[in-house]
Amino acid sequence: MKIVVFAGSNSEKSINLKLATYASSFFKDDSIKILRISDYETPLYSPEREKQNGIPELIEQFASEISQSDLIILSLAEHNGSYSAAFKNLYDWISRIPNRKVWDGKPMLLLSTSPGGRGGAGVMKAALERFPRDGAQVAAHFSLPSFNDNFDSEQNRLTNDSLIIELREVISKVMLFVKTLNR
Ligand SMILES: Cc1cc2nc3c(=O)[nH]c(=O)nc-3n(C[C@H](O)[C@H](O)[C@H](O)COP(=O)(O)O)c2cc1C
Repeated sequence: MKIVVFAGSNSEKSINLKLATYASSFFKDDSIKILRISDYETPLYSPEREKQNGIPELIEQFASEISQSDLIILSLAEHNGSYSAAFKNLYDWISRIPNRKVWDGKPMLLLSTSPGGRGGAGVMKAALERFPRDGAQVAAHFSLPSFNDNFDSEQNRLTNDSLIIELREVISKVMLFVKTLNR
């Protein structure tokens, strides 16, 4: 299975990309493609830009990565209780591609983390409400609180045993979900 992994952040040192990459390491037999949304940055969406130039090529390319995948692992950064502007811009542009739902019916493992104790609970809530309407099949979700206390960025792994168990259960749920879909 092809898994596309990315974060809802354009930060070079994104903690969400670290979490998403770590989660993808549990999928040992699969092909993993890690994307950085900063490689797909385009001008802010505006109706005038769309009318003049259509959908930017980079947006088409990102949408095509989603469509070619069998599973999306996405970890969302929280900015002021919601999506980062970088992610929202990408989202808005993809939603303008004719005859397309943003997530194209794909199964998704949805994650979030932040240095704070809520682990991005606000952006997670927004995404859980919205993504299914835009064609995502959210197989499972997990928010990691207090990233810096629970994740070793040198060894790229979770350090809190109970959170490791929780994440493993979430991953098992995703694996079962995808298996059932492909039956
Ligand atoms: C503009 C801005 C707004 C933020 N708002 C929140 C917030 O609402 N909740 C939160 O937990 N962290 C917030 N943070 C801290 C981010 O969680 C932190 O920068 C984190 O590293 C973002 O994830 P990333 O490293 O994957 O980009 C904010 C950071 C910035 C720069």
